[in-house]
Amino acid sequence: MGFTQRPQQWGIMIRFEHVTKRYEDGTTAVDDLSFEVAEGELVTLVGPSGCGKTTTMKMVNRLIEPSEGRIFVEGEDISTTDPVQLRRRIGYVIQQVGLFPHKTVLENTATVPHLLGVKRGKARERAAELLDLVGLDPATFGDRYPEQLSGGQRQRVGVARALAADPPVLLMDEPFGAVDPVVREHLQNEFLRLQQAVRKTVLFVTHDIEEAVRLGDRMAVYGEGRIEQFDTPSTILGAPSNDYVADFVGADRGLKRLSVTPIEEGDLEQPPVLHLDDPLPAKLDARWAVVLDGENNLHGWISAEHAHSGPGTVRDHARRMEAWLPVGATLKQAFSTMLQHDAGWIAVIDKDSEGRFLGILTPARLHEALRRSTAADGRDIARGDVELETITGIGKR
Ligand SMILES: Nc1ncnc2c1ncn2[C@@H]1O[C@H](COP(=O)(O)OP(=O)(O)OP(=O)(O)O)[C@@H](O)[C@H]1O
Ligand SMILES: [Mg+2]
Repeated sequence: MGFTQRPQQWGIMIRFEHVTKRYEDGTTAVDDLSFEVAEGELVTLVGPSGCGKTTTMKMVNRLIEPSEGRIFVEGEDISTTDPVQLRRRIGYVIQQVGLFPHKTVLENTATVPHLLGVKRGKARERAAELLDLVGLDPATFGDRYPEQLSGGQRQRVGVARALAADPPVLLMDEPFGAVDPVVREHLQNEFLRLQQAVRKTVLFVTHDIEEAVRLGDRMAVYGEGRIEQFDTPSTILGAPSNDYVADFVGADRGLKRLSVTPIEEGDLEQPPVLHLDDPLPAKLDARWAVVLDGENNLHGWISAEHAHSGPGTVRDHARRMEAWLPVGATLKQAFSTMLQHDAGWIAVIDKDSEGRFLGILTPARLHEALRRSTAADGRDIARGDVELETITGIGKR
């Protein structure tokens, strides 16, 4: 579809330089904020109510002007940019979505391209594509009015509309705040998939720490008017920079980190392996072996009691494997797969092939992987701390 292909250049898309906002009544909403957001990066801003998240966001599209400091978008000091021109490059999704109640879903979505001078027919065509992209069938929903949609569906129209002008930057202020947790998770998944495809630079405000962790390439944890820590979710959960951040991310941060730590090949153990057409071995030095087909793709497993010499081949005694995941899946998925299948280990396969077997993940290796993710962050945090936390999950900070 007609999105600008932006090669991943890792240029800086948004830069804040010592930005302070003081309102007329003397409230300092944000205080000396400096940070950079790379092109194609999704940064979540998370923090308690009133800490300055919306103010930060609205300064990017000049709905609010900073009192001090400078903001750059694509290298350009935005105080010198025409706000209307600027906003064309920045999609904006607000919490209450702000759909026009008297316009249909399709018209709502087509608004921006239409304003930008795209012909009506073309704008509607594009709007239909976008609705499709956010999971709303244009034939079903296009002619409805916002009041005829569920909260979650309205949020999706908001996202489609913000994407309509194909802006490089998206500002999203609690876009999924008004929907229930189940729908929210669904929208988050869809949004992640969408972001994989369109690779916008996104500032995403949320109250919800889980959402911030789940969606953010990096996250900014706000205290009052200040960013207390700006880093990857894995680092923030693994090594909060101070007590405030540790408190904010919660005592169960060890568990939360499961959901942001991927399974890597180095985490895997190599168990005994047999192939489908092998004769049964005389003896197996383990309680079971993994069974692969001729292409080394995962087939299943065989238990030691069946794997001793006798007539037939491994194929005759192998069982299908239910508990497996592709490499790159999260440790949380691994843990949940183990529980679901009541399995002591899971098989891990290559994600780009037909299922080439890479190794197995055991609970001990899962635990090591969690520790690895902290060590890789290069932070000096006591191993014992992580260990306690990941084992007990709760109760310790
Ligand atoms: N127009 C205004 N005049 C004076 N103070 C303001 C104004 N707008 C916001 N504030 C104050 O600035 C601070 C930051 O507000 P902001 O809207 O950025 O918070 P937020 O982090 O988005 O909060 P929430 O999570 O509740 O949306 C708050 O103390 C707020 O009361
Ligand atoms: Mg706000």
